[in-house]
Amino acid sequence: MEALKINSDRLWDSLMVMAKIGGTAKGGCCRLALTDLDKQGRELYIKWAEEAGCTVKVDAVGNIMCTRPGEDMSLPPVGTGSHLDTQPTGGKFDGVYGVLAGLEVVRTMNDQGIKTKHPIEISVWTNEEGSRFAPAMMGSGVVSGRFTLQEILDTKDVDGLRLGDELERIGFAGETPVTGRQFHAFFETHIEQGPYLEAEEKQVGVVTGGQGQRWYNAVLTGRESHAGTTPMHLRSDALIASSQLVLKVEEIAKAHPPGCGTVGFMQVMPNSRNTIPGEISMSIDLRHPIDEELTKMDEALKSAIKEIEATGPTIALDPFWYYEPIHFNEDCVNAVRQATVDLGYSHMDIIAGAGHDACYVSDFAPTSMIFTPCLDGISHNEIESTTQEECEGGCSVLLNAMLTMAEVV
Ligand code: GLV
Ligand code: MN
Ligand code: MN
Repeated sequence: MEALKINSDRLWDSLMVMAKIGGTAKGGCCRLALTDLDKQGRELYIKWAEEAGCTVKVDAVGNIMCTRPGEDMSLPPVGTGSHLDTQPTGGKFDGVYGVLAGLEVVRTMNDQGIKTKHPIEISVWTNEEGSRFAPAMMGSGVVSGRFTLQEILDTKDVDGLRLGDELERIGFAGETPVTGRQFHAFFETHIEQGPYLEAEEKQVGVVTGGQGQRWYNAVLTGRESHAGTTPMHLRSDALIASSQLVLKVEEIAKAHPPGCGTVGFMQVMPNSRNTIPGEISMSIDLRHPIDEELTKMDEALKSAIKEIEATGPTIALDPFWYYEPIHFNEDCVNAVRQATVDLGYSHMDIIAGAGHDACYVSDFAPTSMIFTPCLDGISHNEIESTTQEECEGGCSVLLNAMLTMAEVV
């Protein structure tokens, strides 16, 4: 079969309409997981999926499954999907592109009257971002068995709101069990969120795997006291200690290239200008594509903490999330590469730097991903930008890779 293209204008229009839900002044999007805005985004998505002839189900962790029937419904579906939630200062494309590309694939199949042997299934995974509720990739993580449903439902946000209660509140605590999901193959399309495709002037990234991640919470305890009366040598300042730790995280990442290390969240107690900070809560995010290197980074972090503790404060480190580097399925990677060649796009192999639901789906199904360029490699920023043409390219690759696996009848 000749390589097919999707309807580029329709995909772009849908992206722009979805971006209005939680749209920010700087042109980005703030649609945090399980907020009222997330509910609005989900409801719009379901409306569009039903209009495209899909049957829609929601599971107990709020994952949305939209199915286009196949000729043989006893076969596992060929899946695609990503997420609708965003970072607090998110863009219009991270995640959203993947779920709307899935919808555009179904819409194009409808336009062309294409029938497949396997059903097609689009998943909108719950809380991929891990921003409001940590860790990330929760919906796909529960389905893959990385997390138990209960532990995820009991997760709380920074205001103490429980994920399970928020899911009920927005009407997305569904009836479908989280167990027993299967895919014949699964593909996720996503903007690259990094600089490599743009630098190499390639239209498509054939994603062969994803780097490993370790997430920690750290609580540093010093002693609160008066900013004017406590001599410098008698202080135990938790913010000074955490600043040293932030610099150590940077040093560790730089010592293990191409590893990354980030402190993105910090709470200062009591956060008063004339009281020496007594307690700091902070996040630490370490990543590396090679597991042995990620282990070395973890060890270096633990010894840095011992060194800082020797200067006075106590540091409680909670290594609450880890996943190892992922290697995607060869057949799925090849299907993406072949679709790219058939469509005449320039391409390169690439490793995902961000976490993606596809990483957890690959625990239980043959999986791979498709990347498209984004301007200056910037993401998790309201200015995140990509072109209609770039979105069209990745979505057309998705369509053809899915058709290969779903078998056109
Ligand atoms: C998810 O967006 C991540 O932090 O990789
Ligand atoms: Mn994403
Ligand atoms: Mn993201």
